[in-house]
Amino acid sequence: MRKFRVYAPGRVNLIGEHTDYNMLPVMPLAVDKRITIEVEARDDNKVRLANTAVGTADTSFVISDNIPVVQRDWGNYARAASQALSKWAGKPLKGFNGTVSSNLPSASGLSSSSALLVASALAVMAVNDIHMEGLAFADLAADAERYVGTKGGGMDQCAIIMSREGYASKIDFDPLKVTPVRLPEDVDIIVANSMVKAEKSGAAKREYNRRVEGCRKGLDMLKKAAGIDCGPYLRDFKVAVPDYMPYIAKMPVGDERDFCEHVLTEADRVEAAFAASSAEELGYLMNLSHESCANLYKISTPELDKIVRVARESGALGARLTGAGFGGCAVVMARKSDVPGVLDALNKEYYGGNATENVLFTVRPSGGAHVKEE
Ligand code: GLA
Repeated sequence: MRKFRVYAPGRVNLIGEHTDYNMLPVMPLAVDKRITIEVEARDDNKVRLANTAVGTADTSFVISDNIPVVQRDWGNYARAASQALSKWAGKPLKGFNGTVSSNLPSASGLSSSSALLVASALAVMAVNDIHMEGLAFADLAADAERYVGTKGGGMDQCAIIMSREGYASKIDFDPLKVTPVRLPEDVDIIVANSMVKAEKSGAAKREYNRRVEGCRKGLDMLKKAAGIDCGPYLRDFKVAVPDYMPYIAKMPVGDERDFCEHVLTEADRVEAAFAASSAEELGYLMNLSHESCANLYKISTPELDKIVRVARESGALGARLTGAGFGGCAVVMARKSDVPGVLDALNKEYYGGNATENVLFTVRPSGGAHVKEE
């Protein structure tokens, strides 16, 4: 039987939070921590998965274009991938036996679940000799993830699949477009895990989906305020009304108004970050993004706020929460010469001197998911 190893990295988002499902841009990078699946092809349509993570039970399913969700099972991300590929292929697909291992912290805003989905998809593709162009794969993977019930955007899957080693990416949506972005020369990116778990399939999912709905409702209010009709995303409003602020000001005070203000200004910050000519400018925009995420989008936590404060006070150029929020990680950018001081301050003031490599680390911009035949 043919054997493969598939790899899918996590991602950290530098700027552009909760813009993706509004079809507005993001700027993530793939990190040098990843999920690996050792894959052995099977002759039938079954998938059996083991996981080396402690306390994780084996899981299995039959590939079809209608695979039942199993409540609270980590294997749902593999089911999501398999169902999507089965529909795409329009013919019976073969399964595999797989062992999943990971050095990517889970439920921490580094997209371990999307990495598992992408890795599982690559496993199915490898054993069935399916080859798909990257952007088409990223679109398929983003759609596939809706299987688990999150009305997510397409940032994570695209970053995991399309990233180029040494670069961050600016991602535009609908149509999906990836532009590699060189980070400033003399900075490093630090990730600090707040240790507050933000399970994508748990309570954070409800809060996440509430914001997706809030943006939709807010868009309707904006359209009324401006007396225009436009497409179904905040992006469409922004294109129709580039000077959107007066219309935000006309909205009734409340979540919808705050959510729309965050998303539209965050999109401007991504464009500014893409055009930024210095590390200071990029850092400044990251800081503004955190304030907007915290005050308007209301997705920060006291723990994330503390990490951000300590990082800035110890010399970071920029620090902000990253990913969906409600816990998870912060991303910090610092000059290489300031990195030891920032790490030291975070270790002492946030982790009580006990930070390990798994919770506080620097990341290298890495390449996207790939397969090796053994
Ligand atoms: C999660 C989702 C992404 C994106 C971020 C917030 O990671 O999976 O699609 O919406 O939250 O920017």
